Amino acid sequence: MELQINGQPYAVAPEWRDEMLLHVLREHLGLVGSKFGCGVGLCGACTVLLDGTATRSCVLPLGAAVGHELTTIEGLARDDGQLHPLQQAWLEEQVPQCGYCQAGQLMSAAALQRGNPKPDAAACETAMAGNLCRCGTQQRIRNVLIKVVR
Ligand code: FES
Repeated sequence: MELQINGQPYAVAPEWRDEMLLHVLREHLGLVGSKFGCGVGLCGACTVLLDGTATRSCVLPLGAAVGHELTTIEGLARDDGQLHPLQQAWLEEQVPQCGYCQAGQLMSAAALQRGNPKPDAAACETAMAGNLCRCGTQQRIRNVLIKVVR
């Protein structure tokens, strides 16, 4: 069994079968960019892309990820190291505060951009509604989405 993550194959041990994807990413594969927040699919800190769709990895059993293309925050930038346009805009707008939720925020924004190149304001709100931020960075994220995604 293996996972395809950021274009690379990762071997998966049979004893990890009953674990959630987030745990496997962080504890077994060393991909620690996706964060554990609530652990029950409500905060968005653990968001990854599953075949391009924003997915809560804390509630996704490992078996459900096998056979799909996963993208984590570690795979969002280009192979040559150039930042994804959203990451660049995130920096220019100085979005992060404590930073804990930002990987999940970026992955949800990337999914929005992939699925809907010209979303309206309502679509942006809907796409980001499941990503919580206790520091209050939502307005700066909206500013980025207006500049980059819309
Ligand atoms: Fe997965 Fe909160 S940690 S949604």
